[in-house]
Amino acid sequence: MIGRPGMQQLTDALGGRIAFGGDYNPEQWPESTWAEDVALMQQAGVNLVTVAVFSWALIEVEPGRFTFGWLDRVLDLLHDGGIAVDLATATASPPPWFTANHPETRLVDEQGLARSFGARQGFCPSSPLYRDAAADLAGRIAERYAEHPAVVLWHINNEYGCQNWQCYCEVSADAFRRWLHGRYESLDALNDAWGTAFWSQHYTDWAQIPAPRRVAYSTFANPGMRLDWWRFSSDELLECYRAEAAAVRERAPQPLTTNFMGMRKTHDYWSWTADLDLISNDHYLMAEDAANHQDLAMTADLLRSLAGGHPWLLMEHSTSAVNWQTRNLAKAPGEMRRNSLQHVARGADGVLFFQWRQSRAGAEKWHSALLPHTGTDTKIWREVVELGHDLAKISELAGTLPDPARVAILFDWSSWWAAELDAHPSSDVKVRPAVRRWHQSLWKRNVAVDFARHGQDLSDYRVVVVPVQYLMSDPAAAALTSFVEDGGHLVVTYFSGLVDEHDRVRLGGYPGALRNLLGVRIEEFFPLAARATVRLSRFGPGRVWSELGRAESAEVLATYDEGPVAGSPVVTRNRVGRGTAWYVGTEIDDDARTALLRLVLDEGGVTPVLPDLPAGVEAVRRRSPDASYLFVLNHTGEDVTVEAAGTDLLTRMAANRLQVPAGGAAVLREARAATGGPRREAAPPPAPEPRH
Ligand code: GLA
Repeated sequence: MIGRPGMQQLTDALGGRIAFGGDYNPEQWPESTWAEDVALMQQAGVNLVTVAVFSWALIEVEPGRFTFGWLDRVLDLLHDGGIAVDLATATASPPPWFTANHPETRLVDEQGLARSFGARQGFCPSSPLYRDAAADLAGRIAERYAEHPAVVLWHINNEYGCQNWQCYCEVSADAFRRWLHGRYESLDALNDAWGTAFWSQHYTDWAQIPAPRRVAYSTFANPGMRLDWWRFSSDELLECYRAEAAAVRERAPQPLTTNFMGMRKTHDYWSWTADLDLISNDHYLMAEDAANHQDLAMTADLLRSLAGGHPWLLMEHSTSAVNWQTRNLAKAPGEMRRNSLQHVARGADGVLFFQWRQSRAGAEKWHSALLPHTGTDTKIWREVVELGHDLAKISELAGTLPDPARVAILFDWSSWWAAELDAHPSSDVKVRPAVRRWHQSLWKRNVAVDFARHGQDLSDYRVVVVPVQYLMSDPAAAALTSFVEDGGHLVVTYFSGLVDEHDRVRLGGYPGALRNLLGVRIEEFFPLAARATVRLSRFGPGRVWSELGRAESAEVLATYDEGPVAGSPVVTRNRVGRGTAWYVGTEIDDDARTALLRLVLDEGGVTPVLPDLPAGVEAVRRRSPDASYLFVLNHTGEDVTVEAAGTDLLTRMAANRLQVPAGGAAVLREARAATGGPRREAAPPPAPEPRH
């Protein structure tokens, strides 16, 4: 299951309201504060809290001795107060007795050192001891609370792999060998995939294969092995989820989720979604990133795409400062509200936070919360109460679908992992920043964007962007070819399509898998020095990358204008079937990307949600069959006026022109359904691609 059924069940359980609340850790407080917690939750309009995320040590106080009494009382109290519960399986951090009794379950780092107990999540994801204990606890909690009327959702573990995404212990090495055996079946196939003829690495026994710990000085481990290690590690975390999920499903009818961590390198979330009933995510702004609201938009677009275009749940964000960045800048007045509505605009049907009451002790005591140390006479509390009211005012939106995008960015974790392995032409080639730059240019034009999986059917889109997708399987390349032949418009950047699913170079000319589609043949890379630029005949300057090559069937729109590759094509367009395939062979600047995208979007007939918005003003739509909702988010310091007619659900004012104050947001029920053609049903999730 994915996206809608679970999210819809949750929305129904909340009486059709948008979820609002956060992690509630009552065990950190004397029981005498709990009644006040519930009263304040009611005052703020909180309707959902996540309980027991880190409660293992207080539930199973010693092996096999359970103390559920306090949790019984918490759940009863919440239920009596009308607050629903997302009940965690309490397994995110094993208690001290567990690690002391089973030191072999500790996380081991790349150097082979076991990490100490004393923080959280310090377990080896492949440890059968940990997995069994976690599944056992999850099953007991599910058994006890499956019929508790407060429980509307199960929270399996918490942010799997946040602190322990890879473990290099011997148990993990064994599991890796089993995983490799399942993938390759024979050592011949593995040797071939990893190119082990190189550097005398030919394996003759599975037992010879190590976990890729640190190797000899100044050299590089086999890239095929390292790529598979990333895949294996993501799969092992998924297996942990599956073990707990099975124990809960056997006993409880409510939907299941686990909270993702957005566009993070460590997990191939495409491969996780089918196991979740609803997709949920934690998102924290990097406070010193001046465009962090665009990063939020990108992450929300990825989450909506992971949810197959359906609504999803924002499981955590922060009311103000976090505690884990170098400088934990507080949110400006109104920023938390704008962040929250931005997530809703892009498909979230719930806005939850870490955490309800700001901790008094422990490592997160300087992390903001809904209820700060300083109490209710505070900016944060007043904004929390206001947000609760705002979300109640826009409740009718819950369950509506985000407007379908006509543009997609192709994005794949294996490709990310492979692209950033060692010993490449330039370590300045980075995937997430490249993806972000293309998303940012589309975001600035207020064009709706999805993320698409390699190999998926792209026929719903008019434009597809392929930023630094270095690894490309044959089915992924075939899907792009069909997309263009059928009339789509494709933009591919440098360092894409170069290797197959095993990180083996595609021979005969770059960019390998996409050479014919793009109609160019590159013969040699000329990466640029740090901070160097190269002049281009148009769209310049270029940064990071340049290359020597020629156009075969493509039309050359720009060439390198200086240096060793002067005269080589840098921006090209190839007409294939009914569509076009553009190639951009260097890192171009924002203005050039905007200009180039304008050409491509015009060719594809893609229009912005609203035309001519001032820079920094974001417009997004959601729709039901009979209503259209326009979100306008003003990220600037100036008040703006936007041409749009309808009723602002937040102010209850009807207007023909929308006034949105500096830093503010508006949610308009539009006077008449906006143009853009009939609604399509959100696509079902793409069928899983055979794992590369
Ligand atoms: C993650 C965790 C929470 C908390 C927050 C702090 O999202 O899930 O328990 O540590 O980070 O930002």
